[in-house]
Amino acid sequence: MNQEILKEIDSIDLQSKAPETEPQRQYYFIAKVKEHVKALTEELGRTPTCCVTTFGCQMNARDSEKLTGILRLVGYDIIEDENADFVIFNTCTVRDNANQRVYGRLGELKGFKKKNPHMKIALCGCMMQEPTVIEKIKTSYRIVDLIFGTHNIYKFAELLNTTFEQKGMIIDIWEDTDKIVEDLPIERKYPFKSGINIMFGCNNFCSYCIVPYVRGRERSRNPKDIIREIEALAAEGVVEVMLLGQNVNSYGKNLPEPMTFAELLQEVEKIEGIERIRFMTSHPKDLSEELIQVMKNSKKICRHLHLPLQAGSDRILKAMNRVYNKEQYIALAKHIREEIPDIAITTDLIVGFPGETLEDVEETIEVVKEVQYDNAFTFIYSKRTGTPAAAMPNQVPEEVVKEGFDKLLKTVQETARERVKRYEGMVMDALVEEVNEHDATLLTGRLSNNTLVHFPGDKSLIGKIVNVKLDKYCGFYYMGSMVE
Ligand code: SAH
Ligand code: SF4
Ligand code: F3S
Repeated sequence: MNQEILKEIDSIDLQSKAPETEPQRQYYFIAKVKEHVKALTEELGRTPTCCVTTFGCQMNARDSEKLTGILRLVGYDIIEDENADFVIFNTCTVRDNANQRVYGRLGELKGFKKKNPHMKIALCGCMMQEPTVIEKIKTSYRIVDLIFGTHNIYKFAELLNTTFEQKGMIIDIWEDTDKIVEDLPIERKYPFKSGINIMFGCNNFCSYCIVPYVRGRERSRNPKDIIREIEALAAEGVVEVMLLGQNVNSYGKNLPEPMTFAELLQEVEKIEGIERIRFMTSHPKDLSEELIQVMKNSKKICRHLHLPLQAGSDRILKAMNRVYNKEQYIALAKHIREEIPDIAITTDLIVGFPGETLEDVEETIEVVKEVQYDNAFTFIYSKRTGTPAAAMPNQVPEEVVKEGFDKLLKTVQETARERVKRYEGMVMDALVEEVNEHDATLLTGRLSNNTLVHFPGDKSLIGKIVNVKLDKYCGFYYMGSMVE
């Protein structure tokens, strides 16, 4: 974090009242929590520990880096173990299994809390924006000390302070916000790559999806703030950035001075030190020719486009409120492939949307064969309370869903294998991300097209971009060797 801000925090007079303006108010509470953590350290005779557990998407991962930034600054030791003095779950509710995992893990914390009277448990993120969830926690999980949502995450320091000064479960959930608070501390998971929020929320209301309800309306960050943040990251050694939003293609439409996503990308491209640019996610309905041309002419934008299809049947797409049809989607994907032949296209697919038949799934399979995805995430439809699809009458029986799902998955895997295999023998640049999890003599790198490659090398190369020959395709990844 900016040294001047750190100095500002250290010089705060805690006898004075908390400022009303942000982020100064949060700086004040950071200073205050620091004092509480100091006292706790003396009481325990050791530095208190904390653990941040993230569920869900890249956006949640980025939010967790904001939580971690504050926890580090106030004096906690950050550990991976949930048997800690402060545990926070940053939750996801996009599908029901995400929720169930949170309840399961929360149950496990009960034992830890019994043994450690100092332990505090906090919950935040998308799941907390659902009133039924809050009710369930209030009745069945009294061990929780703090609950907040997606709209007031910037107030984490202030809420954390309350846990030291007030007993009982603290709950602070906002229905929506139009506020974006800049300049709070962030601790990155990787020194060499980083996610950057360019927008928050979603206005698309796909009929199956809960995200617009739990993340609120679409808000774009000011481009100057985004560029300033990326420049600072580059100065700290970050070489790859991932611009994050639920629908990046509609970036900038509601800014006081409107700007397109393609224009923003061109600004990011100019930043010295940044060598790779990625983004997530693109809604097909808003993908512009301007963006395709900017990608095509860029030296830094990675050869990867995640373009969620969801379903191939026009009837289902319509009921999903996706605003494109099968033919338009295929034409778009073909056009992108013509303009940028080496691009990897990946997608998200849902099986079992209300009313979907096996014939409809066949249409999804047809698109998969036609587009030849490099990878696809295949999900079973999950009924989300409050969404229009949840109220639709013809929910699909489990056996039918399973049959369609298995068939689709098989096609997805076969086509992806064919598609990715064609790079075998080529030399491509890879950003070295880590030492291989299973074999410490190998490094794991990511290609521009997002495929992973494992190759022998020394860990001093982590964070560097190296040339790798893709020797052997092994089903979704490559084994390779470094070349000069
Ligand atoms: N904004 C992104 C998606 C965010 S959610 C986009 O539109 O591309 C990530 C994926 O989860 C979605 O693409 C969709 O495939 C899946 N998903 C969302 N809601 C779902 C539900 N109710 N059941 C199953 N999968 C769902
Ligand atoms: Fe959900 Fe659709 Fe918004 Fe993506 S675009 S977050 S699927 S509502
Ligand atoms: Fe989940 Fe929220 Fe992301 S619901 S997928 S964590 S926006």
